[in-house]
Amino acid sequence: MKTSPIIALDFDSAEKTFEFLKSFEGNLNVKVGMELYYKEGPPIVAILKEAGYDVFLDLKLHDIPNTVMSAMAVLAGMGVDLVNVHAAGGKRMMEAALEGLDKGTPAGLKRPSLIAVTQLTSTDERQVREEQLIQVPLQDSVLHYAQLTKESGLEGVVCSVHEAAAIADVCGNSFYKVTPGIRMADGGQHDQKRIATPDEARKSGSTHIVVGRAITGATDPRAAYERVNALWKGTD
Ligand code: C5P
Repeated sequence: MKTSPIIALDFDSAEKTFEFLKSFEGNLNVKVGMELYYKEGPPIVAILKEAGYDVFLDLKLHDIPNTVMSAMAVLAGMGVDLVNVHAAGGKRMMEAALEGLDKGTPAGLKRPSLIAVTQLTSTDERQVREEQLIQVPLQDSVLHYAQLTKESGLEGVVCSVHEAAAIADVCGNSFYKVTPGIRMADGGQHDQKRIATPDEARKSGSTHIVVGRAITGATDPRAAYERVNALWKGTD
């Protein structure tokens, strides 16, 4: 993926997606998540790729190793740039995901990069302690999953901006730290808990930011994107 912000295309139809993209130029980074993919299926990915977008297919696979391997082989055949799993699926599952991607990548194409979700950015300390029964602080849980992901051979993790610097210390600067939960200082938090601004993301060592509602929900999405991009690049 390019280093520009990844726009989360959280729309329920191809029609709304292309209406939204109409005001943008150039080959953006976009993220297709469950809502759009489950509605429109593989053709939406094919159309976006053909139009020149870099596509992060965010389906967060989490199943037994064999199932994840087979599913990843299918996703690799679609020519996406970035896919993901939940690190909680374990080391064997993550390795199987990589094997599936290797198997399914068509000759001459680059294998999609693979990253793992550590703890969702909508998760907070209380949930980690009371719902997941994890007895260490959230940051330690994220760091543990990041190390497991690195040992499994993946390219990086999805985490919040607040854990990016600690992950860089342990896993290195080039290990992907893809960070959702991005909000403008004057914007709403919605269902996200571990949020940060684009400039905080840059300063903390995020390698990529994922931005949804701060752009898609803005009255002028193009202007919102430019604002996010300037803060992310440090050029504002
Ligand atoms: O609208 P918002 O900026 O909160 O959108 C964030 C996007 O990133 C959503 O599509 C969500 O599914 C995704 N995401 C996330 N937290 C993760 C992984 C993905 O918010 N850990």
